[in-house]
Amino acid sequence: MNERILVCVAWPYANGDLHLGHLAGAYLPADIFARYQRLRGNEVLMVSGSDTHGTPITLTAEQEGVSPTEIIERYHAHFLESLTGFGITFDLFTHTDTENHWEVTQDIFRRLLQNGYIYRESTQALYCSHCSRFLPDRYVEGTCPFCGYDRSRGDQCDKCGKPINALELIEPSCRFCEHTPEVRETEHFFLDLAHFNQSLLDWLNTKDYWRPNVLNFSLNFVSDGLRGRAISRDIDWGIPLPVAGYEDKRIYVWFDAVIGYLAATKEWANITGQPKAWHAWWDTDASCRAYYFIGKDNIFFHTISWPATLMGHGELMLPYDVPANEFLTLEGQKLSTSRNWAVWLPDYLERYDPDALRYMLSIHMPETSDIDFTWSEFLRRNNDELVATYGNLAHRVLTFAYRKFDQRVPEPGPLAQTDQEILAIAEATFDPVADLLNGCKFKAAISRVMALAHEANRYLDNAAPWLHIRENPEKAATATYVALRVIDSLKILLYPFLPFSSQKLHTTMGYEGNLLGDQYVESFDEATRSHTALRYRSYLTGDMWTPSNLQPGQRLNEPKALFKKLDAEIVEEEVARMRSQGVTQA
Ligand code: MF3
Ligand code: ZN
Repeated sequence: MNERILVCVAWPYANGDLHLGHLAGAYLPADIFARYQRLRGNEVLMVSGSDTHGTPITLTAEQEGVSPTEIIERYHAHFLESLTGFGITFDLFTHTDTENHWEVTQDIFRRLLQNGYIYRESTQALYCSHCSRFLPDRYVEGTCPFCGYDRSRGDQCDKCGKPINALELIEPSCRFCEHTPEVRETEHFFLDLAHFNQSLLDWLNTKDYWRPNVLNFSLNFVSDGLRGRAISRDIDWGIPLPVAGYEDKRIYVWFDAVIGYLAATKEWANITGQPKAWHAWWDTDASCRAYYFIGKDNIFFHTISWPATLMGHGELMLPYDVPANEFLTLEGQKLSTSRNWAVWLPDYLERYDPDALRYMLSIHMPETSDIDFTWSEFLRRNNDELVATYGNLAHRVLTFAYRKFDQRVPEPGPLAQTDQEILAIAEATFDPVADLLNGCKFKAAISRVMALAHEANRYLDNAAPWLHIRENPEKAATATYVALRVIDSLKILLYPFLPFSSQKLHTTMGYEGNLLGDQYVESFDEATRSHTALRYRSYLTGDMWTPSNLQPGQRLNEPKALFKKLDAEIVEEEVARMRSQGVTQA
């Protein structure tokens, strides 16, 4: 039976390009998972979009002296390119600056207000009388009360990493005019998290299958006792509060961003012409599992405040799993966009193939601990594993079959024991890898598949059909056929991780069309707000997660190398590039 699986992926702030951390933290694992589930014939909906609100956007706009709209349009367009470039198959990648998103957010706000889970309260905040405005945390600088660093930001200290309440900063100053702000009273709306304390605890206690780091973090947080959290801000960029008398305030970006998962589902339903279709993904009694792929810095918002919002609504499905990833570090240092210590996805795509990085990040995925990315390891994994183990295996067999067997899959003779063995190993790889993928253990899953590629190489080296082609063509044909079958299975097993090369293999082996679906950029809603989004359409064809059933006689296409061997010099080049663009840590 088909299952319905909602794949929710963190919404990137549209104030800068995507980098390696985004890919490893959320987009790649989500895409591997979505592609695998689609192969099974399950119904997948993968949604996300650009996060266009919050002070990250306005700060960048003010720094560049342009409007926030200009910033978000620029980076939304870049995101679509990077995501397409890496083959991240969103059913819809939209953004939060749409009428639909605003309406859905305001509806939820109103509903929680009516249900009594949002309350008003006066609080104190920093106000710059020179700029005549309240200062969001990120707009204040001062001395960190914990470590004494004198250029700490108002939300978090860059030196010691501790979160800070801007009011606690020593000698605070306005980031724009450098005047000293004053403390003023201001009224805000709060999400009553305390009300959900026990329900959240009970719910979290059913999540024994979650990653331990995600579960423990969440349980600790809730066990400490939750307090209400402000979900409005004194700024003029963002979604207006749906309450009269608060025109100068906006909804807090974290309240609206997570609602994007629901809003995007509704938008997708509208686009596909079945406006009610979203219910099947969100109703509490729908048979659907919702997975949230995020980085570990977003755990609180997905395991506590979003579930509380959903509980407060009362008719929406809670997350099934939140497989948050840890961080990727880069050449031993924390990735940092402000210090430009990053590998930017558009930049990478100018020089290398997407599957090379997808491979590296799958096998080095920061699932349960932080993991360091180095260019030398990238080179080694690409050359020794992708090219030497898998690529050469496929290339050797395919060129041999193409040249010696009349561009067709040869007719095998009787299978010897070694032939049967390797086919059995290939077949026996499907179930365990399926379990690993279902459990979001991507690193272990790809390692398991690569072990099969190793076995296949060993088989081929021993069988060496090129040595037998003259004296015993039937034996050579059998070995070639068997090896082709194994490669055809590897194509499926690796498809979630390496979709581009799997598609290439698929075509080379003489199959027609796309393995599974099409990805494209779609423009729509031009009447209201011209707005482009990434869309994916999959062709459900039943369970394709099955060992190869390659038929003798199938016509092959001319083989081309699947992967490129990289020059050892790229390591030094890339590290030098990073050092010259970035500011290294002391
Ligand atoms: N924009 C946030 C960030 O980049 C992530 C938002 S995830 C969401 O950290 F779920 F809240 F949308
Ligand atoms: Zn100021």
